[in-house]
Amino acid sequence: MTAGRYPLAIVGAGALGLHFAARLAKVGRVAVIARSGERAADLRKGVTVGGERFVPEAFGPDDAPGADWLIVLVKTGDTRDAALAARAMAPRGVVSLQNGLVDEVLREACAGVLAGQGITTEGAFRDGSAVQPSGAGDTLLPPGFEPVAELLVAAGLRARVEPDIAAARLAKLLVNVAINPLAAIFRVRNGELLAPPHRALLDALVAEAWPVLRAEGLLLDEAAARARVEAVATATGANRASMLQDVLAGRKTEIDAITGVLLALAVRHGLPAPTHQAVFTLVKRLEG
Ligand SMILES: NC(=O)c1ccc[n+]([C@@H]2O[C@H](COP(=O)([O-])OP(=O)(O)OC[C@H]3O[C@@H](n4cnc5c(N)ncnc54)[C@H](OP(=O)(O)O)[C@@H]3O)[C@@H](O)[C@H]2O)c1
Repeated sequence: MTAGRYPLAIVGAGALGLHFAARLAKVGRVAVIARSGERAADLRKGVTVGGERFVPEAFGPDDAPGADWLIVLVKTGDTRDAALAARAMAPRGVVSLQNGLVDEVLREACAGVLAGQGITTEGAFRDGSAVQPSGAGDTLLPPGFEPVAELLVAAGLRARVEPDIAAARLAKLLVNVAINPLAAIFRVRNGELLAPPHRALLDALVAEAWPVLRAEGLLLDEAAARARVEAVATATGANRASMLQDVLAGRKTEIDAITGVLLALAVRHGLPAPTHQAVFTLVKRLEG
C-alpha cells in the first residue's frame, strides 16, 4: 500500500466515510482511518460502494499516516476518539461533517490545529457489508477549509466554504431535532411525520426549538422554521431517518448530539423545551 503523507484522510469507514472516500479516490490519494487495525485490514480486501468494488487505502488509528486535511465521519458518540486520531496525523486542519453539534468537542480535542464542523446533505447507508449512496447533496465547510472544498469538487461532489457556518449548523440542527426522534419513536418514514397523528408533535418540537436556535443566532421565526422542516420532510419523504435506522439496527443513536444539545441550549437561554425532553427520554429508552 502507498504510504507517505496524504493530501486528505477520512476518519470513519462507515456509510458516508466510504462513500466520500470512493469518490475522492477516483481523482487522488485518500487515506481511510478505521476504528481498528483489524477493521482496516478487512477493508483493504475491498468493499462494494455504489455497486462498484473499492479498495481503500485503510489504516488503523495506531498506524495512521500523516495527512494535510482530515474529515471526521464517525457517529457523534465517537467524535472525541476520532478527533484525537485525526490530530495525531499532524494535519493542517480537521473538519467534521457529522450531524448534531460537535464543534466544541472537536476543537477541544484538536487544540492548536484549525478545526471546525461543517454540514453535509450528501447521503449513504450501509447495506450489509456494502455501502449505497442515497442521494447527492451539498457540503458546506467552515472558512479556512477551501482546499478541502476544492478536493471534494474535483471528486464531483457539491461543496463550498460557507462564511456563516454556525447558522448553517443551527439550521440543520432544527431539522434534525424535529424529524429524527419522531421518526425513530414512531418507526415511520420522514414524509409520514407531516400527517396526523405525528404532525402535532412535529409542530410542537419546531415551536419549542426555533426560539432556542434564534437565541443562538439563527435568524428565523416560527413560520420560517416550520417551512424549513416541512420542506426537508417532503423532499426526504420516502427516507428512513438515520436515528430510525440506528434504532432498527439496535445501535446507539446520536440523540445526545442532537436533542441533547438543544436541551442544553434551552437551559442556557432559560427557554422551555418539554416536548424535546420527552422525546429525548423516549429515544434513550428505545436504545435500551
Ligand atoms: N449516512 C448519511 O447519509 C449521513 C448524512 C449526513 C450526515 N451523516 C453523519 O455522518 C456521521 C457518520 O454517519 P455514517 O452514516 O457514515 O455512520 P456509520 O455508517 O455508523 O459510520 C461510522 C464509522 O465510524 C467508525 N468509527 C467509530 N469510531 C471510530 C474511531 N475512533 N476511529 C475511526 N473510525 C471510527 C465506525 O466503526 P464501527 O463500524 O467499527 O463502529 C463506523 O464504521 C454521523 O454523524 C451522521 O449523522 C450521515
